[in-house]
Amino acid sequence: MYKAIQVNKDTFWVGVNDFETDLFESLWPLPQGVAYNAYVITGTTATAAIDTVKGPYLDDYIIKLKQALNGRTLNYLVVNHMEPDHSSLIAELQKIWPGVKLIGNAKTVPMLKGYHGITENIITVKDGDTLDLGGHVLKFYTVPMLHWPESMVTFDTTTGVLFSNDSFGGFGAHEGGIFDDEKNKERWEDEMLRYYACIVGKYSNIVQVALKKLGGLEIKNIFPSHGTLFRKDIKQVVTLYDKWSRFEGETGAVVVYGSMYGNTRKMADAVCSGLAGAKIKDVRLYDVSRTDPSYILRDIWKFKAFALMACTYNTLLFPPMEALCSKLLSRMPKNKFVGIAGSYSWSKGALTALQDYAEKSKLTKIGPEVEVYASPTVEDLEKCYELGKNLGEAIS
Ligand code: FEO
Repeated sequence: MYKAIQVNKDTFWVGVNDFETDLFESLWPLPQGVAYNAYVITGTTATAAIDTVKGPYLDDYIIKLKQALNGRTLNYLVVNHMEPDHSSLIAELQKIWPGVKLIGNAKTVPMLKGYHGITENIITVKDGDTLDLGGHVLKFYTVPMLHWPESMVTFDTTTGVLFSNDSFGGFGAHEGGIFDDEKNKERWEDEMLRYYACIVGKYSNIVQVALKKLGGLEIKNIFPSHGTLFRKDIKQVVTLYDKWSRFEGETGAVVVYGSMYGNTRKMADAVCSGLAGAKIKDVRLYDVSRTDPSYILRDIWKFKAFALMACTYNTLLFPPMEALCSKLLSRMPKNKFVGIAGSYSWSKGALTALQDYAEKSKLTKIGPEVEVYASPTVEDLEKCYELGKNLGEAIS
């Protein structure tokens, strides 16, 4: 990745790896880094870049962009997305190539002014408009709220490359190869799903609309703005996106607990035993205090069932569990089964808050609800086992 890589006819990857940012959007951990994918297409009559990269990577990006241009000028910059990890360097490109025209839609224009003070050299396109580069005709499709209002994707009608913006993106820097057939699937799929659950999943209904809108195109490659580039098995990755956006979970369950002194953890262990009693093999047990929510969200998206179990803290729900419930309510995963349990000592509170979450979530709640005073008794743990078994049987 030290140089521009040709990824299709006249089409080059000019992106960068970021191992310095520890939190994406200052929220989501990046233990494997992240890649900002940017591209350039060199037509016979004009050249066009697709997005830029995050600000600190100017030098790395410009070196590759110039390699790909091979002495030609940059005529167009297609702004698929204005989130700064892709738009930071627009003004820098204008300094190097003052005549470059920016391609965006009506929602892009105020953001160009707001972020960069840019009001000129902008070509505003509508859904379905085209741009002929000579040997490459680009077609623009708006995909509002996927995941920003100005989001759009660009389709090269000549090569069949879909520059898909954040859609089909994933966390994780490129570790050697950049294509799907150069990487281990488990490695990219996990980080792609974590990205989906955290960044895109809230807009799953719009993903479904976009999949239908783009479904008639002869897509041969999907090149997103983050993560793996897809060229080998497009159907496989479209199927994954379809499945995730329809909330089609796998047979398995996530058990999340918040526990100060181990009592709620014992209850969670019993729920896991109940799931095993129902012959559920894929069970993920997470301590909400010590697991970043992005991994919990990822697995809640992945599987059909989850249980939330927490102690009471100062009469309210244990704070890390409260934060997780807030993230879940913001994303509203559907078609899941949920179980809840709470514990308390000098004041109740956790179970009531979890009941409130379960009601707002509109998910199918599986009983029994369990509420435990102080340390769980044998009878309490049997109820937790029953909850796990019922959850397991609901998804079998
Ligand atoms: Fe990768 Fe929505 O920016």
